[in-house]
Amino acid sequence: MIKFTVLSTKGGVGKTTLAANLGALMADMGLRVLLVDADVQPALSKYFRVRRPAPYGLTKVITTGFVSEDCISQTEIEGLDVIRSDDPDGSLQTWLLHRIDRGERLGNALNSPAVTDDFYDCVLIDTQGTVGPLQDTAALAATQIISPIKPEILSAREFKTGTMELLARLEPSPNTKNRVGPVKAVISMQDRTADARIIAESIRQDFLKLGGRVTVLETVVPDAKSYKESATLCLPAHRHEPSRKGAMPSAYETMHALLWELVPSLAGHYAGTSFVENPGKVGE
Ligand SMILES: Nc1ncnc2c1ncn2[C@@H]1O[C@H](COP(=O)(O)OP(=O)(O)OP(=O)(O)O)[C@@H](O)[C@H]1O
Ligand SMILES: [Mg+2]
Repeated sequence: MIKFTVLSTKGGVGKTTLAANLGALMADMGLRVLLVDADVQPALSKYFRVRRPAPYGLTKVITTGFVSEDCISQTEIEGLDVIRSDDPDGSLQTWLLHRIDRGERLGNALNSPAVTDDFYDCVLIDTQGTVGPLQDTAALAATQIISPIKPEILSAREFKTGTMELLARLEPSPNTKNRVGPVKAVISMQDRTADARIIAESIRQDFLKLGGRVTVLETVVPDAKSYKESATLCLPAHRHEPSRKGAMPSAYETMHALLWELVPSLAGHYAGTSFVENPGKVGE
């Protein structure tokens, strides 16, 4: 099973939008996807309409260290479930701070029987744009980190100082056995200005030089109103904008290209074509 955590220490860079739309796209490909909303502001929990709400959510998952079925809500999208955020005061952060196993808490919970390969092909965890133990445990629960970067100078700087420092801090030490998964940076919300193009290029060059642990994906998510509109309509962007005229790719094209880069075993498969012969092996 593949487990993604969408993470950035910068707010408003498109984390929730990516988590929701990648999850819905995979579900429309016939995969079984579990979204986990690890943000105090429950944007992902509300992104799609919920068909069958569960009585519990993230608080029970974190405090019991276990995912029970009564924590999993079903969205209106077939195959797409969500563990909703239910901690408006942010008290989970404080609770976690006092736990010696705070780093492994979410990762261990996601090994519960209700989240095995028998039930899900992919878990996608959304995080909040501030540093804290909830974000740490979300980062450590992932097999891959997806990190959106807006091509503007403050976001690019924040990625290097904030996000990369957070990930470096979580690398193994005598006290932790975890490793953070590879980081896939996604240039997100790129507008058509020359400035955005120049910064996007310099982000690529910087990380090429560093090599190794951060890959900047080829696919760029453009700044396009279809992403906002689809969020307002509670629709996946690939359904809302299946095609468009002009040079900018449609949300359908962009989201497929992005997913194929993230999960090469899905390359060439489209939403609406239920192809998966061996769903449990996706991404392995
Ligand atoms: N590619 C895009 N083009 C245009 N608007 C976008 C795009 N992606 C996201 N948005 C819009 O930008 C705003 C912020 O996006 P989003 O909520 O996904 O960011 P976030 O990183 O999750 O923010 P936060 O840190 O507050 O959780 C939303 O209004 C969203 O609809
Ligand atoms: Mg968000």
